[in-house]
Order: sequence, then C-alpha cells, then structure tokens
Amino acid sequence: MTHMELARVAQAGNEAVPLPEFDTIVVLDFGSQYSQLIARRVREAGVFSVLLPWDTEWTDVAPLQPKGIILSGGPASVYDPGAPSLPAWIIREDVPLLGICYGMHLLAHHLDGEVEPAAKREYGPATIDVTQSCALFHDLPPSLDVWMSHGDHVTRLPSGFLGIASSHNAPIAAMSDGRRFGIQFHPEVVHTPLGRDLLRNFLVDVCHCRTDWTATHFVDSAVRQIRKTVGENRVLLGLSGGVDSSVAAALIHRAIGDRLTPVFVDNGLLRLGEAELVREVFDRAFGMKLIFVDARDRFLGRLQGIVDPEEKRKIVGDEFIRVFEAQANLHGPFEFLAQGTLYPDVIESTAPDTNAAVKIKSHHNVGGLPADLPFSLVEPLRYLFKDEVRDVGRTLALPAEIVDRQPFPGPGLAVRIIGEVTWEELDLLRAADAIVREEIDELGQSAGVWQCFAVLLPVRSVGVMGDYRTYGRVCAVRAVSSEDAMTADWTRLPFDTLARISNRIVNEVRGITRVVYDITSKPPATIEWE
Ligand code: XMP
Repeated sequence: MTHMELARVAQAGNEAVPLPEFDTIVVLDFGSQYSQLIARRVREAGVFSVLLPWDTEWTDVAPLQPKGIILSGGPASVYDPGAPSLPAWIIREDVPLLGICYGMHLLAHHLDGEVEPAAKREYGPATIDVTQSCALFHDLPPSLDVWMSHGDHVTRLPSGFLGIASSHNAPIAAMSDGRRFGIQFHPEVVHTPLGRDLLRNFLVDVCHCRTDWTATHFVDSAVRQIRKTVGENRVLLGLSGGVDSSVAAALIHRAIGDRLTPVFVDNGLLRLGEAELVREVFDRAFGMKLIFVDARDRFLGRLQGIVDPEEKRKIVGDEFIRVFEAQANLHGPFEFLAQGTLYPDVIESTAPDTNAAVKIKSHHNVGGLPADLPFSLVEPLRYLFKDEVRDVGRTLALPAEIVDRQPFPGPGLAVRIIGEVTWEELDLLRAADAIVREEIDELGQSAGVWQCFAVLLPVRSVGVMGDYRTYGRVCAVRAVSSEDAMTADWTRLPFDTLARISNRIVNEVRGITRVVYDITSKPPATIEWE
C-alpha cells in the first residue's frame, strides 16, 4: 500500500458526522483566544458542540445539522484588510445565530448596520442594562455584570434588529431580530457571572436543543458507534496508563470485549508502582486480556551513554514503536488501531492560520505512532475535551488514581534524569518522586497542583549525617499550577510540606543528600527540565 492509501484507510474509522444522536451547535472560530472555551461552555450546558474554522463551507457544516451557530470573537476589526469575513451561508441558511463581539460586528457589518472604532479600547468589567425582554435574557436580572474586550462596536442596528441591552460605553451592547443575536460582551468567561445562564437560554430557548450531552449518554452512543465501525474485527491499543489511553481502553472494551487487545509496555522509565497499578486495574479489575511487555532491558540498553534530551526522546519513541509493532505481529492480525486522540488535538490540526508552533521539545507518546501503520484508526475520544474524558472515565468506573492522573511525559523518567539514564539512577529517582507525590497528595486538590515530581540532577554535594560526611546526589522538586500546561507557575507549597519532603528524601533515599525547590515559571522555563 502507498502512503496515500494508508492515510485513507487511517481515516476510515472516523465518521464525518461525529455523533449524530446529539443536537449539535457549531461554533465558528474567528481567532479568539476563547473559542475553545465557548465550545466547552456549550458542552457544560449539556449540548454537543463542534468548533470549526470560520471559513468552513456549508457542505461541511450541513451534515452536522446544527441547531444553532455561534460566531466567536476575534482579534481583527471588520475594516482590517484580509480580516475574516462572514461566510455567505450564515445569512442564507436559516439557523439561529449568536455573534459574540467580533461575531456581532461581522453580522452588523454584513447586513446594513454600522460598526465603528470606539473612542478607546474597552477591556474589563462592565455592567449592561437589559432594554428589551427577549429569549436570550430569559429569567436573568435587568442588569448584568459582564466582561468586555473590544476596540470596535456597533453604532447602527441592521434593519429588522432591535437593541436589547446597553452599557455605558456601548449603547448597543446586544441586538436581535428574534432569531439572530449579537452581544458585545463575552458570556464564556468566568468574569461574566451569569454568562452560562445566558448561553443556556440561547441553546434551549432559542435553538430548542435537548440537553442530553452527558457522560452516560456519550458512553451509550460511543459503544454503539464502536460496534458499528469495528464489526467483528479486532482492535489493538497501546495502553500507557495515562488518562486518555485508559479511558479509550475501558470504552472500547465495553463495546467489543476481548476483541480489544491492550498492550502495555514497561519501558523501565515508569514511576513507582505504575506498572503494577495498570495491571491491577485493567487485568484484574476489568478482566481485560492485557499484553504486558517487559521491555526494560531493551530501552535501558539503547539509552546507555545518551545524555542529549532530544536523543533520549527519539530513542524512547522509536523503541516504543518497534516493541509495539512486534507485539502487533505476534498477536495479530488486527484491522484497527485505537488511539486516545482528544478534541484539542483535532482542532489544532485543522485550525486556520496557524503557523506550526516553534518546536521546543518533540513530544513522543503512545499517540505519536506513525501514520503509516497498516491499520484503520478508532479514536472514540476525538470529540472530547480533557475534563469530559475524565467524566467518561468515572462513568466507566475507572478508579481515581487513573482518572485524576497527572500528565506524564512519554519518555517518562528518562527526561527527569539529567544526564545518562541508568538502573541505579532510576531507582533513586523513583523513590524520591514517590515521596514528593505522596506528600503533595496529602494537601488535596486545594493546593492547586497541576503536576509535581522529582528531578535527579547530575550534581554531587557534600553533607553531614550524624558524625559522617556524606557526598551524594542533588534532587530537585518541581510542583506547578497550570490550566493547560501551555503556561505554568511554580506552586507556593507550604513550607512544612517542603520541609517534610526534604527530610524524608534525604533520610529515606540513600544516595540523595540535598533537595532543592524549583521556583521558575513557564515561560521562561518549561515544566519538565529536559
Ligand atoms: P513542558 O516541559 O514542555 O511540558 O512545559 C508541558 C507538558 O507536557 C508534558 N510533556 C510531555 N508529554 N511527551 C509527552 O507526552 C513528552 O515528550 C513530553 N514532554 C513534556 C509535561 O509533563 C507537561 O505536562
């Protein structure tokens, strides 16, 4: 098969209409930093949503049978040369519409209204007064605190439209012709406290959507779809123990039972107890026929003498594929390969006007398998956001240790040992890391830790224990708070916790004699050290 043919086969498992059983709202992305957030808020209101680039053709939108369209905000002005424009089908097709900020400007500009630059850019909290009762403001108070972020605003209403709310700076803060709405403010951000209620009004009272997008319904629907796609064939899945592959495994197993073959590779670069936990959950509790591959020697053999982080990543990625392919041949044939791809990855690959982000680190993980494997793909989570994946995991009765798992890099502890990776160093790091996680877990969710771990440094330092001089390794503790790992701040852990971590590591991990705390945020640092 040629690459093209393989790519086509790889697409076969992914339906054009993602989840036909759910009412769908299409969010058109005009480049706002909040576009994904809008899509998530719609989901939180119990309605399925799809985020598409602003210039998507109606032929691609129509199969989704959208019950409503939301136009996102965006950084442009409608007067900018080359600014994203309103697709002609928006006016042609009679679908309920909500234009947010730039979306509202586009609507006014495209019809016969007028948009002008405001005297000054408005950014921050504002209060709007509802001037006309309508479905959008149903059951909301006459005055609302909202979040504004705009340069332009609408100064003349298009024919057939009424002003429905005003603010000090924007006399036309919202407009409507009964079926189409434009709002100058951002209901999707938390700074608009009743924004969720307003969105819900649009979804339920204007678009008449059913609010049945729940984890339970998703599971039922996904199980049916997986059965339909896979038929009597067999599916291979790389189980890493992370949230995504674990939830994908549990879901596919529910659909097709033992025709799913999950492969778990112990590459020796896992955290303390990790391999055991995966076996415990999937093999014993779920009764899956887990293929457990002990490939520790292979990986460590290839990592011998390697100190460059990118080289480590490449080796771990390549070796993983080799081991995985060997297992596929051994236990095959498999017609399908399952992957835990999530919606943000799908959005990113189709986003408009994005230059490929500068490569800072090459990320290798189970999801990074090459596109030319001879399988069709099953990606049952490709329309879910991370928090939805967690909800589905809970619905499938996966334990909290799996569902609430911190992200863990594909190359594992190899990128948390600075310098060469050896068995001895892995043991030191595993022991120190377990202490860090145990102590920080004690603080509970309120500590706001997104990720925490230990890093083993290639530095020796003098110490004293009892009457003896010691000369051992230095370990760094990293704990960060973050929303999405794109930016992160170091967590202000309580000093008592830091003291306990330090005491315990130096006392319990023979070979580490000094502990330091990493107080760098991202940027300028990254979360991992390598
Ligand atoms: P950085 O270090 O780039 O990490 O700030 C951002 C997030 O990504 C995780 N990470 C990886 N995940 N393969 C992965 O699957 C990798 O090679 C990799 N490197 C970093 C990191 O743990 C953090 O959550």
